[in-house]
Amino acid sequence: MLTRLYGRYSLNKMVYSTKTYSTRKLYEAYNELKKFRDFSVSPLHERFIFPYICGTYFGYRKVDVLRVVAIAKSISPKPRYLDVGCGYGDFLEKIREFIPEAIGIEKDGGIFYEFNMAKPDYIHIKDVSLDLNEKYDVIFVGWMDPGVDFRKAVARCTDCIITTLDQGISLGAEFEVFGFRRIAWWRTPSWIDVNYQIMNKYYTKMSDEIYDSLFDLRGAHNLWYVYTKNLEYTDQITNALSHCQQQNSTKYDFEGILDECGFEYFENLQHSKIDTNNLFSLWKIEYEQNHM
Ligand SMILES: C[S@@+](CC[C@H](N)C(=O)[O-])C[C@H]1O[C@@H](n2cnc3c(N)ncnc32)[C@H](O)[C@@H]1O
Repeated sequence: MLTRLYGRYSLNKMVYSTKTYSTRKLYEAYNELKKFRDFSVSPLHERFIFPYICGTYFGYRKVDVLRVVAIAKSISPKPRYLDVGCGYGDFLEKIREFIPEAIGIEKDGGIFYEFNMAKPDYIHIKDVSLDLNEKYDVIFVGWMDPGVDFRKAVARCTDCIITTLDQGISLGAEFEVFGFRRIAWWRTPSWIDVNYQIMNKYYTKMSDEIYDSLFDLRGAHNLWYVYTKNLEYTDQITNALSHCQQQNSTKYDFEGILDECGFEYFENLQHSKIDTNNLFSLWKIEYEQNHM
């Protein structure tokens, strides 16, 4: 979280000498957010510009929430669900609409206490590497900071892990080494893919021609991996996933931003400008061959 609290929006050099480095960065981010609100075109932009404090590092739609819920409920009708490194709990809050007992663990209590923000009682402040002793039906790991690695503790406490990682940036987010198998995966934009599009469209002066050529360069770099080490779960998880469809009538309000930025549900994007025939579909679930 230290590296990328916000995107191309400019950073003021402010010094808070008595604060830790991470708290200082968070103060800076909150100050920049206040300034941004003076000229912001839409409040829905905030989550893609200040992802840690207003959203998540991964771009998601309601269908992602429904998929994660379906996986958890395929394991148990009242699943024990844990979100590790949940930050302020933006994604967890959505999950709790369907799994009210879902909880989160966050190491840094300062993100609440330093800013006089109420900590929801379903978010527990602790370090998962030191203090994770119970079993969960599903553990969700939403975007681990590069260099942070609490996989061992997570792998010990569940048979099913769902993780999101930023292609090429998150390290150590894969679980095969702990006896898990990836059984399905899909791709969505990361906050930064959306951030570029918003910045180009609303906050940067450029000609229509340049805007169009940059729009064509958009990519989507967030991967969702579903792992299990209990192969008996494989069929029930893949069946549950294949029944989850985008429900047009019940989108989150911020999904409109994804649509206008060219990240529609099942939008086809090119892998590269050189190989223009090689397309991939956003949100399309890929099942690992040996599990179908
Ligand atoms: C990159 S942020 C991701 C936050 C949120 N999941 C999201 O996607 O926006 C990683 C979070 O993991 C927390 N974290 C890092 N190490 C942790 C640990 N050992 N135990 C619990 N939380 C941890 C950090 O404090 C931070 O809030």
